[in-house]
Amino acid sequence: MMISSAPRSVQEQCAAWRKAGQSVALVPTMGFFHQGHVSLMQAAREKADKVVVSLFVNPSQFGPAEDLGSYPRDPERDRAMAGENGVDLLFTPSSREMYPLHFGTWVSVPSLSETLCGKTRPTHFKGVCTVVLKLFNICTPDFAFFGEKDWQQLTIIKRMAEDLNLPVQIVGGPLVREADGLAMSSRNSYLTPKERFAAAQISQGLHAARARFAAGERSAAKLEKCILDYWLDNLPQGRVDYLELVHPDTLEAQPLARTDTRMITAVYLGKARLIDNMSLG
Ligand code: PAJ
Repeated sequence: MMISSAPRSVQEQCAAWRKAGQSVALVPTMGFFHQGHVSLMQAAREKADKVVVSLFVNPSQFGPAEDLGSYPRDPERDRAMAGENGVDLLFTPSSREMYPLHFGTWVSVPSLSETLCGKTRPTHFKGVCTVVLKLFNICTPDFAFFGEKDWQQLTIIKRMAEDLNLPVQIVGGPLVREADGLAMSSRNSYLTPKERFAAAQISQGLHAARARFAAGERSAAKLEKCILDYWLDNLPQGRVDYLELVHPDTLEAQPLARTDTRMITAVYLGKARLIDNMSLG
């Protein structure tokens, strides 16, 4: 596996591959790999001749009071895991290389970025879109893989790619969960053992609504209340940032729930802010 922190040499390498007729898949990440990241690497491996994984804790997607400084990192373990999963090139740029002095161009998709996570993280998706477009321009991938764990992020990246005619196919990968149902996340490492145990209740609450939907309930308000009541009983220490039942593509609230309606939520538990989502059907 090649490892490079230089955007220019990664650009040259990817261009050489494409010139030789080899397809390139990119998996953008912020590292501290878990099975969710690995599943995307493996899907990329199956799809393309060359797999590039970027590992960059992108400062521009963190708000001033957020966890940029304490975001979990383990570069050596990440290198080993990327190597074991068939990655051809690990791109590990520095902040200085990605955001040189006088950096001044930003990309955003306001129509999809102001709801859900955007309410408490108003500049987050602007940072995500900007870094992802930079990564696309450096790696010129044929395919780029994003997890359904970050449903809003995936939706926004798809919109950006379509709106800007980016010559890349955005591929979504299924949300990977721990055995007890907790969505895997690098930020789960912030949880104390007690909080980690309780965190399984987040997805259990969503399952409660699925059961209610299967039994015939179609009112989004009632299904939301079902989830909030479940959490009141089973996750009293959690603080709900938001919980919404939305259209899977437009992210607009759907008062009348359908099979493809997406339940999307963020819950604070101790130091961690955990996100999860699930379809109703
Ligand atoms: P990060 O949180 O490291 O996630 C990298 C990719 O892994 C994202 O596409 C994310 O959706 C996916 N992922 C994370 N946990 C997952 C899980 N449990 N199941 C399936 N996929 C999962 O998301 C980011 O980094 C950044 O915002 C990034 C896109 C790299 C831009 O900086």
